[in-house]
Amino acid sequence: MSGIATARSGAVAEIVFDRPDKRNAITTAMYAALANALAAAEADPAIRVVLFHGNGGAFTAGNDLHDFLANPPDGGERPALRFLRGLAGARKPLVAAVEGPAVGIGTTMLLHCDVVLAAENARFALPFVDLGLVPEAASSLLLPRLAGYQRAADLFFLADPFDAATAQSIGLVGRVLPTADLLAAARALAGRLAAKAPEALRATKALLKSASTTVAARMDEEMAVFERQLQSAELKEAVAAFFEKRPADFSRGG
Ligand code: COA
Repeated sequence: MSGIATARSGAVAEIVFDRPDKRNAITTAMYAALANALAAAEADPAIRVVLFHGNGGAFTAGNDLHDFLANPPDGGERPALRFLRGLAGARKPLVAAVEGPAVGIGTTMLLHCDVVLAAENARFALPFVDLGLVPEAASSLLLPRLAGYQRAADLFFLADPFDAATAQSIGLVGRVLPTADLLAAARALAGRLAAKAPEALRATKALLKSASTTVAARMDEEMAVFERQLQSAELKEAVAAFFEKRPADFSRGG
């Protein structure tokens, strides 16, 4: 058992932390499986959305602490970094459903997900300093941007676990749900995203993550994509569906 399970539901690929006896702590082999599963989902034209969740009442306890000692850097690209690069570069929408503990990378990876749902029992933590480590996954850039410098410094320096309401208040989590409803809600939301115009969705994600920072540059960037989408089969289908008073069907196409 690799500790990572995958499943497919329509156009949604599920990537599941599946090592419940260790609270889904992630080993090197699991990072490799995560990176491979994400790359496969990105490459598969039939997949439109990726959903991450964990089995056994936990999202993930973060990096396996035995593995930190057993697998020090060897100069090659570590599977963890390959997974993180895959997350940061993903073109398709990434949804995460967080139940129970989400420690270390279990919290920082959420900064790369597009929609994050948390159960009321979710518990986040950034224990890097307490372990003698530093933040990863570009979280030292992304968390202050999201939460503000002092909030981020508080979370990284003091490393106190925080609950779903706090995660929502800093913008790390979009929706908080009763624990029993979490997975069904995440699957329903992922399914809704998978039914939307796929190119428009991916292009919107790319714009939201664009590095351009001036209004003029961003308007130009948006307009180039807007004009491309004006010529797209997606727009034609959406407009036809409106006038024919039926739901749009984007099931064909990428
Ligand atoms: N690496 C390796 N093993 C881990 C682990 C980790 N990150 N997190 C949990 N485990 C193991 C425990 O050692 C325990 O194993 P055992 O049954 O053989 O004793 C088992 O998973 C269950 O953990 P436990 O602590 O009893 O579960 P809990 O529900 O009380 O607490 C956590 C869950 C996640 C809050 C707690 O386990 C924890 O703080 N883990 C360490 C998290 C961490 O520091 N991660 C690194 C981030 S950079």
